[in-house]
Amino acid sequence: MNRVLEPELMDNAEQAKVYASANFEEENQGFVDRFVQAHGNELDNAHVVDLGCGPGDILIRLVKAHPTLHVTGIDASQPMIDIAQRSIDGAKLGDRIALKCQRVQDVTFSTPVDAIISNSLAHHVPNPLQFWYAIKTMAKPGAPVLVMDLIRPESTEEAQAIIDQYASQEPAQLQKDFYNSLLASFTEDDVAAHLAELNLSRLLLDVPDDRHWIVEGRVF
Ligand SMILES: C[S@@+](CC[C@H](N)C(=O)[O-])C[C@H]1O[C@@H](n2cnc3c(N)ncnc32)[C@H](O)[C@@H]1O
Repeated sequence: MNRVLEPELMDNAEQAKVYASANFEEENQGFVDRFVQAHGNELDNAHVVDLGCGPGDILIRLVKAHPTLHVTGIDASQPMIDIAQRSIDGAKLGDRIALKCQRVQDVTFSTPVDAIISNSLAHHVPNPLQFWYAIKTMAKPGAPVLVMDLIRPESTEEAQAIIDQYASQEPAQLQKDFYNSLLASFTEDDVAAHLAELNLSRLLLDVPDDRHWIVEGRVF
């Protein structure tokens, strides 16, 4: 099945609200734990960037999991940034979490960042090489990177079967977004080709379950 693009940004207020209300606790905490277990000992006072931070749940879990790192969340959807800011204020973590409402392809930092994470953003970006290029140019040499996203199924029937298995109890809007995201995602071979194209040879690709890929390692 060929890739079918979905809208790049989740900038509809209702769509952002439904996504923010969904329970991604297990997936998000697992993502944060994996990153902190692998790299926590080199993140003292580090500046970590979360690309496509959405409603900010991972940002908050990350700063709670490490005592001194600080993080910048980037998302080009103003409704998502507004939800994230409210959650950060509510958790009184504004001194450790900053937000930028910008496309990751357009973001620059005056100092290279110490580490980069991103969950479920890559499939939104029409040209995936721009996503990996942003990581490559933003990070300091040797920076740890953890990226996770969905795998594109082989058919629309297979995509629907994943929705039925994992999201049948979720609101219709969330099921629709999940389905469209699966169709917009990349296969394992796609991701391997993108990494090779940008010579990101120290990033390793893994497939931990039936619907996700993970890229982990360092960027040089
Ligand atoms: C599926 S959500 C994932 C949110 C969050 N990372 C999580 O795991 O819950 C993807 C987010 O990426 C944002 N996004 C899509 N394309 C983007 C881009 N080019 N630059 C910045 N944000 C983008 C969307 O607006 C949306 O909030």
